[in-house]
Amino acid sequence: MKITIDNISIDVEPGTTILQAARQIGGEVTPPAMCYYSSLENSGGKCRTCLVEVSKGSEKDPRPMPKLVASCRTAVMDGMEVRSMTSERVLDARKGVTEFLLINHPLDCPICDQAGECDLQDLSYEHGDSGSRYGFVKRTFEKEDLGPYIQLNMNRCIMCFRCVYVAEQLTNPREHGILDRGWDAQISTYINKALENEFIGNVIDVCPVGALTDKTFRFKNRVWFTKPLDAHRDCPTCAGKVRLWMRGDDVFRVTGRKDKWGEIEDWVCNECRFHKKKTSDWVIEGPTKVDRHSVISQGHYVGLKKPNDPLEILIGKAPKHTIDIHKVSDVNKPDIDLSLIAGPAHSDDFNRSNTAPQPKEINLQESKVKKNDP
Ligand code: SF4
Ligand code: FES
Repeated sequence: MKITIDNISIDVEPGTTILQAARQIGGEVTPPAMCYYSSLENSGGKCRTCLVEVSKGSEKDPRPMPKLVASCRTAVMDGMEVRSMTSERVLDARKGVTEFLLINHPLDCPICDQAGECDLQDLSYEHGDSGSRYGFVKRTFEKEDLGPYIQLNMNRCIMCFRCVYVAEQLTNPREHGILDRGWDAQISTYINKALENEFIGNVIDVCPVGALTDKTFRFKNRVWFTKPLDAHRDCPTCAGKVRLWMRGDDVFRVTGRKDKWGEIEDWVCNECRFHKKKTSDWVIEGPTKVDRHSVISQGHYVGLKKPNDPLEILIGKAPKHTIDIHKVSDVNKPDIDLSLIAGPAHSDDFNRSNTAPQPKEINLQESKVKKNDP
């Protein structure tokens, strides 16, 4: 079928959606998508960020569609003409949707682990306003413990349903879902269950905002200070193909590899994601190609000093030292391996007496009972 999007024509298979056709064209005609995820059945149709204008329905019935349509849920018709970034109505609608999504979303990017790789941050940068017209108190939720791996911050959730589809389609049985409706709708396990299925960690990767984050990485580092590397291991549970987020020789985080639409290429098991935090656990393939517009490309890689040593690439720009922090402060002791402390580092990680064991191994049980966890 022939479809024209923003004056660019392409032939696609019957059954292709407008969004998929736009992705085949690529570039700026592709609408943003906060809830659609191509590998998750039934996803899409929730967030309305992908709205487009159909200015010609098809060759047989050329009438335009009166309302904007969700491109992730609308199938292409032969001869269809679509306007995405060339339509004032569409741009205005995206602005409106962004404003609605931000009504209840806290502006806590400075402390949010998702900052720097957040779809909502990107959307508001492209389509948001500098100020808010919302004068009421934002919706807030009680903190809920989802177990040792995943931190839920419900205040940040935009109700895209992606995590529910991951749980529904990858784990058995599904332990969490959306409770209640409208203003009160929330992600929950209802009776404070821990999410521990071997593939449940993937909800972290699909969440477009910082509502579901990795407890073993929380508050450890900003994502743009870490260097992504593609790596693999021989894993009996998943494909073992991951992205390591490194600083120096330390693996701070393990995630799935995302494609250019921000979607995971292979689902990753919990063992690889949460328990393999040493470089020796992995065969390193090389640095991830980071889009130069991404804030993650800030800490540029430097050239290889030793040929064929991928770890050399991780050094990044040499820091400009003004003082040696270790001479004036007891925190940030070089002998404390931050990447191996479960969860965020606390003062008691540094105040241990010499007789106390150093937290060299990730202990997920210990992370559950930390008192001062922010
Ligand atoms: S927690 Fe994240 S993935 Fe789940 S519905 Fe909310 S925004 Fe979507
Ligand atoms: S991506 Fe189409 S409605 Fe959310």
